[in-house]
Amino acid sequence: MQPRHASRSETVLQQLMLPEHTNPFGNVHGAWIMKLVDEAAGVAAMRHSSCRVVTKSIDQMTFDHPVHVGDLVHVRARLTWTGRTSIEVGVTVAAEKVRTGILTHTNTARLIFVALDSTGNPTAVPPLAIETPEDRASWDAAEARRAQRMSST
Ligand SMILES: CC(C)(COP(=O)(O)OP(=O)(O)OC[C@H]1O[C@@H](n2cnc3c(N)ncnc32)[C@H](O)[C@@H]1OP(=O)(O)O)[C@@H](O)C(=O)NCCC(=O)NCCS
Repeated sequence: MQPRHASRSETVLQQLMLPEHTNPFGNVHGAWIMKLVDEAAGVAAMRHSSCRVVTKSIDQMTFDHPVHVGDLVHVRARLTWTGRTSIEVGVTVAAEKVRTGILTHTNTARLIFVALDSTGNPTAVPPLAIETPEDRASWDAAEARRAQRMSST
């Protein structure tokens, strides 16, 4: 299979946070942010693999700053690693105050998806082509996490 660059599948979702997304104090529920993160990462994994994918693991999800009602949330998902059938996607979230354009980083996440064939079994994905030194660093960090995961199972 031909390697594919992360820029080919990079996915950005934007959504305005409304009262239905918040708790009584006007903060957006963490579960709502997690849903957007899973959606953006899943689209990136599907774009890369050209397959249906399922979430296998959410390895990390940080909540660094609150998101408020009225914020425009930007969710950016980019592949960091590919195995034979699995794909790691890194996601960053930022909240924009629309009137000023000020962006605040709010969340970071890492998710692993498995690509499935038409019978629902794991299927091979195209390798990730490394484009930049940052991509190389992300790949190496993902390899180290995988080695640690394998040694602890
Ligand atoms: C995804 C699923 C089909 C994988 O089945 P499985 O028996 O674990 O399949 P395999 O053992 O062949 O592993 C598939 C890949 O997942 C990886 N994997 C397995 N367990 C993992 C874990 N805990 N963390 C990260 N990767 C893992 C394997 O290393 C393999 O990757 P590779 O081919 O790149 O080496 C199965 O677990 C499943 O259906 N899970 C439910 C998914 C779901 O409902 N998600 C929520 C809705 S989308």
